[in-house]
Amino acid sequence: MWTDIASLARLESGQTVKLQAWLQRVRSSGRIAFLQLRDGSGFLQAVIDGGAHPEALELAKRLAPEDALELTGVLRKDPRAPGGLELDTQLLARLSRSEAYPITPKEHGVDFLMDHRHLWLRHRRPWATLRVRAALERAISEFLDGRGFLRFDAPIFTPNAAEGTTELFEVDLFGEAKVYLSQSGQLYAEAGALAFSKVYTLGPAFRAEKSKTRRHLLEFWMLEPEMAFCDQQGNMALQEELIRFLVAYVLERCQDELEILERDQAPLRRAAEQPFSRVSYEEALQLLAKLGRELPWGEDFGAPDETLLGQHFGHPVFVHSYPASIKAFYMQPNPQRPELAECADLIAPEGYGEIIGGSQRIHDLELLRTRLASHQLPEAAFRWYLDLRRYGSVPHSGFGMGLERVVAWICGLDHLREAIPFPRMLTRLEP
Ligand code: 4AD
Ligand code: MG
Repeated sequence: MWTDIASLARLESGQTVKLQAWLQRVRSSGRIAFLQLRDGSGFLQAVIDGGAHPEALELAKRLAPEDALELTGVLRKDPRAPGGLELDTQLLARLSRSEAYPITPKEHGVDFLMDHRHLWLRHRRPWATLRVRAALERAISEFLDGRGFLRFDAPIFTPNAAEGTTELFEVDLFGEAKVYLSQSGQLYAEAGALAFSKVYTLGPAFRAEKSKTRRHLLEFWMLEPEMAFCDQQGNMALQEELIRFLVAYVLERCQDELEILERDQAPLRRAAEQPFSRVSYEEALQLLAKLGRELPWGEDFGAPDETLLGQHFGHPVFVHSYPASIKAFYMQPNPQRPELAECADLIAPEGYGEIIGGSQRIHDLELLRTRLASHQLPEAAFRWYLDLRRYGSVPHSGFGMGLERVVAWICGLDHLREAIPFPRMLTRLEP
């Protein structure tokens, strides 16, 4: 019976196993050959003793990287072997012959690797990163489904802007109508929350941002929970619990991946164990001034400011109560100081910046209409959204977590492009 590399750790030394795998590299000297294998589930070294198995050795010497193989051998647990396991190969067969493989052990530039993303996915770093991403998607469902949330999928074609109108991708529908690619599922999640009480969307979001930073993609994935009868305090409490859960989940189940990525795990452990800090926008301004960055009241934080704040705290920090003027139209004003919004961004440490943006939503119909007008948004496109304030309106809150930002932080990546299988950026639309 076939087995896969990931299952080998559960087997006994001395057991005979059959594997289907690809060759990464082969090294032979005299009568012995070492094959580095991958089968998608993991990585393994196979050894061929040509004295005992001359035909297998003969074939091994003719193999090339990415040849597909079938192997039969005896499992050996050996603490000196990579991963603690080795296969003493008895039978070797080639299923397919690979052409000369472009990705070689020499150092390639990131552009070359990204041009070959469809192949690069097979290598250790992308493999580890994208498995952490998948683990996070599983953990998100486990966390929210276990707390009574309903997954609620929002449309991609939308008639109205959810966030800044300058970042909209317009799509022409046969010259008859125009729609936008969704910037956020939030407005639909609000309709969902008033129908199902607690919902979340998890799907792609699009931002026409020309900024070429390592923190921005044109297309990214966002988790957006939305809760009825919930204020901004409850909203932040859930965010903190969620992020802790996600980090702990990866620390517990993705040790092999974190080791491949050579991730320093101390900051992750701090995030999983210590309560997050909370500072207001105004406190953050003072702190930044002390750290040598003077910003006038009302100015939004840029990437360098977020980096400084993240480094200062060394673990995730909520910056709350931003001026309403620099935030989206739907945010509930602070009752004492209406110039501030009941909102928070969660800033990750180590220079990863904002990973979550969230707020309480305006539930008063007239106030929301005033805000639409002052943001120069066409009321007609928001008629259905205003209905949510006409019929059974209640305080409600939610947030958006950028999946790639969280993957990048947890994996310690330099750039968001490695946190998604096929990134979409101004400079990268293929493969
Ligand atoms: O802060 P944002 O713009 O908030 C919203 O879209 C709200 N509607 C969310 C809500 O309350 N339901 O985006 C939320 C998060 C950011 O914190 C960031 O992590 C991520 O989405 N994000 C991006 N990730 C990658 N590339 C981009 N261009 C991103 N823009 C935002
Ligand atoms: Mg934001």
